[in-house]
Amino acid sequence: MSAATIASFPNFRDSYPASKSVLHTTQLVVGAPCKELIQLHDIRQQPTAQNLVPAIVKGLSAPSKDLPSLLLWNDHGLSLYDTVLESPDYYPATREWSLLHTVVHKITHSISSGDRLVELGAGNMKKTALILQTLQAQHKSVYYVACDVDRVALRRCIRELQSIFPAHKSNIKIQGLVGTYEDCAAWLACDSSNAQMTTLLWLGNSMANFTPHEASEYIHSFLRTGSSMIVGLDGSEDQDEIARSYEAQTNREFVLNGLDHANELLDTAAFDVDHWDFMGRWNPSVWMHEAFYVAKKDLTVHIAGAEYHFHRGETMRSIRSGKWPKMKVMDICNDAGGQLIDSWMNQQNSYGIYLLRKKA
Ligand SMILES: C[S@@+](CC[C@H](N)C(=O)[O-])C[C@H]1O[C@@H](n2cnc3c(N)ncnc32)[C@H](O)[C@@H]1O
Repeated sequence: MSAATIASFPNFRDSYPASKSVLHTTQLVVGAPCKELIQLHDIRQQPTAQNLVPAIVKGLSAPSKDLPSLLLWNDHGLSLYDTVLESPDYYPATREWSLLHTVVHKITHSISSGDRLVELGAGNMKKTALILQTLQAQHKSVYYVACDVDRVALRRCIRELQSIFPAHKSNIKIQGLVGTYEDCAAWLACDSSNAQMTTLLWLGNSMANFTPHEASEYIHSFLRTGSSMIVGLDGSEDQDEIARSYEAQTNREFVLNGLDHANELLDTAAFDVDHWDFMGRWNPSVWMHEAFYVAKKDLTVHIAGAEYHFHRGETMRSIRSGKWPKMKVMDICNDAGGQLIDSWMNQQNSYGIYLLRKKA
């Protein structure tokens, strides 16, 4: 079964799989989708609105305004992000997929039978399916735990994954954690099943949504729980491909959805999406591409009796995406008290998958 299933993947090797194609292909191989109970645990230390509303207000009050990037990741945002992933210009998806495809057998060597694999920001879990199928083909029993912020999206993606690995037939056991990276670090730190070896999977260049300093702090907080980390990071230095990839119409829609999500959490139409545009630019000081909301005219945002004024053309940062080559990743890991155990790079050295552990 597993050999046949894995054999279906080379078709997708050089292009990121279109919507659900991986999941559907594999589903045909393993059999009918199952209706199994999905194990979801809410590990949030605070409800989402309680976490994000103060962050929105803080961002609007800052000298350089910004909104939390977490606003982008509601269920609708994840569907819009799927469209970004499928765009031929969005090179990071194709590049990571193709690299993972080539090295998945090596990467999975560090995971043993009985281990736990916790994925941070699991998203659509297409890459996860490839990794789990490889582990299954290696006859390893693994506990897979998907952590992401939106309960509805998480449930849907786990259901799809579970149709490939039905609990009654598979040695891959699946569960979900609703929460942020901070919630996951706190959960790992006090989890009673910590005797199990845990590997954290952080793909999709997600770690680079934070500044190098913040990324170091995240790595530190995860490694000190005794876990290893497998991290996928984009190291492109080609400004043209970065702009093409991050400033397309699909990205515009993805980012502007953050304003609708903010309105939903604030429970008021504070942001009129028609009054805002999108802009992207490279910030050389942090090696990051940055996306912004741009006021189309002078306007005032009203929240809980307070007013926030914007002049025409003023920006609010939405999300950043670092482009860090291997040397930079090593610095970040070193600052976190971590050690780079292994790395797998594509031929051009423009994308890397890294295995990190705490320094001995
Ligand atoms: C760039 S996508 C990557 C998705 C997937 N890992 C992949 O490689 O295709 C980032 C994912 O992380 C989740 N995410 C973003 N910020 C998060 C946070 N602070 N805590 C937990 N998950 C987060 C998003 O919901 C989204 O699924």
